[in-house]
Amino acid sequence: MKEIYLDNAATSYPKAPGVSEAISFYLSSIGCNVNRGAYKKAYQAEEIVFETRELLCRLFHFDKPEHVIFTKNITESLNVIIKGLLKPGDHVIVSSMEHNAVMRPLNSLKNRNLEVTTLECNTEGELSEEQLKLFPSLVKPHTKAVIMTAASNVCGTMLPLKEVGKICREHHIFFIVDSAQTAGFSEIDMNLHHIDALAFTGHKGLLGPQGIGGFLINESLAAVMDSLIEGGTGSFSELETQPAYLPDKFEAGTLNVPGIFGLNAALKYLFQIGIGTIREQELHLLDLFMLRLLEIPQIRLVGKRDLRKRTSIVSIDLPNHDCSELSYRLYKEYGIMTRSGLHCAPSAHRTLGTFPQGTLRFSFNHFNTDKEALQTIDCVRQSLKLQVLSKSRQPPRSRPPQ
Ligand SMILES: Cc1ncc(COP(=O)(O)O)c(C=O)c1O
Repeated sequence: MKEIYLDNAATSYPKAPGVSEAISFYLSSIGCNVNRGAYKKAYQAEEIVFETRELLCRLFHFDKPEHVIFTKNITESLNVIIKGLLKPGDHVIVSSMEHNAVMRPLNSLKNRNLEVTTLECNTEGELSEEQLKLFPSLVKPHTKAVIMTAASNVCGTMLPLKEVGKICREHHIFFIVDSAQTAGFSEIDMNLHHIDALAFTGHKGLLGPQGIGGFLINESLAAVMDSLIEGGTGSFSELETQPAYLPDKFEAGTLNVPGIFGLNAALKYLFQIGIGTIREQELHLLDLFMLRLLEIPQIRLVGKRDLRKRTSIVSIDLPNHDCSELSYRLYKEYGIMTRSGLHCAPSAHRTLGTFPQGTLRFSFNHFNTDKEALQTIDCVRQSLKLQVLSKSRQPPRSRPPQ
């Protein structure tokens, strides 16, 4: 049985060509730390680390490579930004589609008098024009920032970064974006979208390895943030306080250099293929898949049907079936890997009307084929039939105690 991987929103697989070779080259032929030693191999490693900062600047339309901070993933990036910026008495606005990588650090700060307002999206996960019009009325004198995902990891609906960024700029509040589900799939322009900090993770749409992520941050936001993690940087060793300049202010401790080598290769692949091409291929698969999926009567598509406003995630709700059972059957009987449940975003499910049951999520990569998409549809049909059959054979369930 040939396995089909449709869990790319969790982490992409396969990785970009050249990623494992780059990691292996670093581990077998370089292996040195950066910013610490004055020898050739250390300089070779530093060159790749700096080049990776430049590639990320090119990707996100930013012009300060030294303002690209490496972390281990976007969760760490968001924690560093949220906990470094927000102080007791501050107010922050989020959308109702946020991942727990945003909601958990914010909720933990509520104990320290942080006020959080949620801008509700509609039942397709969208911030409509009417809701956007409401937005300025949520801004208070102590509003410090808006933190928003570029697209929902539950249903793939994209949020209007440019419009939200413009409102933030007009009200002098920081705009912080979680790009986990769109980096490598759609263009994010830090200037055009008025983004002050853009957090990214290397292992999803950027097609790099796990364990490497980061954020790009402008001068004005970096200046008012405290550093969350402090320690050695290889610079100003005589000081027992964290250096104030970037990237060292936010980059204490040894970096994941093998991960950066892998990400470097992945980014070069993305530029070679072109994000536009990747997006086109994924949307083609999505169209093919969704069209047929919607013909299956037991299934309700969650999120937007319109391809222009979504990423290559298809989440479904099965009003009369169990999502996790279908996900299990798809893997056990056909080798198809999907994810079911709440996807670490309970607020998004409440918005979409899929809490607490969750959804079954198929998420594509441009490496998937038409054949895989069509085969998955057949297997879904088949599995749902089996699920109905096995249910009809079960004795009727007695009523639960009231
Ligand atoms: C929108 C969003 N934000 C944050 C994350 C967290 O990513 P990581 O585990 O790489 O930190 C995810 C992961 O699924 C996500 O989808």
